[in-house]
Amino acid sequence: MERLDKVISESGRLSRSECKRYVKQKRIKVDGVTAKTSDMKVDKELADIRIDGERLNVKRRVVAILNKPSGYVTSTEDPRDRTVMDLIPEEYRHLGLFPVGRLDKETEGLLVMTNDGDLAHRLITPKNGVRKVYFALFEGKFEQDDIKAFRDGIVLKDGQKCLPADICSYKEGCLILVREGKYHQVRRMMAARKMKVTYLERVMEGDISLHSLERGCFRVLSDEEEILLFKEEKPWF
Ligand code: URA
Repeated sequence: MERLDKVISESGRLSRSECKRYVKQKRIKVDGVTAKTSDMKVDKELADIRIDGERLNVKRRVVAILNKPSGYVTSTEDPRDRTVMDLIPEEYRHLGLFPVGRLDKETEGLLVMTNDGDLAHRLITPKNGVRKVYFALFEGKFEQDDIKAFRDGIVLKDGQKCLPADICSYKEGCLILVREGKYHQVRRMMAARKMKVTYLERVMEGDISLHSLERGCFRVLSDEEEILLFKEEKPWF
């Protein structure tokens, strides 16, 4: 059983505060009875919830990935910029999807999008150590002792200490593996080692990579792929 306002807001039909107002205005019925409080418990699979007489479509759970291009902000709305929400295909727009974690406006690559708050939390919490792998181009020099510094935990310029991470040379840049998501983390870790990132792309999260998903495109994951988000591989290079 879940709160009425949670079920309604997750459906994308009304926000929680709108739901409260609608309840006061007696515009919501549950199984034919006018709802008295917005926190009443309902069975979202079975309850007949009607708003102004119209039956609520309890949303389908979706976990998807987007190959984010540069120039889009990772946010559900923005007064100035295009957001990653603009790249969701029309048929998925009513499902209440939101981005999991954040890629900077200039950063490209893999972004998980879902309407499942619990899954988002599990992916983000550093306690679960879900790995994110980035490819970076940079100015400066990558030295062997950077590997040890990353493993020991980089101390950022503001004094924050990062969890142990990995870095290796790859093509004309580096691959960096982190298991948390601090603000501008990779750029700041590299800066702490005197490397200035000029291009950044997330290439992997958990065991999911972009494969053939084109830049700007969106794809729903299967249940099997979703499990790969949490799969733990030991050494990665
Ligand atoms: N680290 C960064 O610095 N930027 C991103 O967008 C993601 C990770």
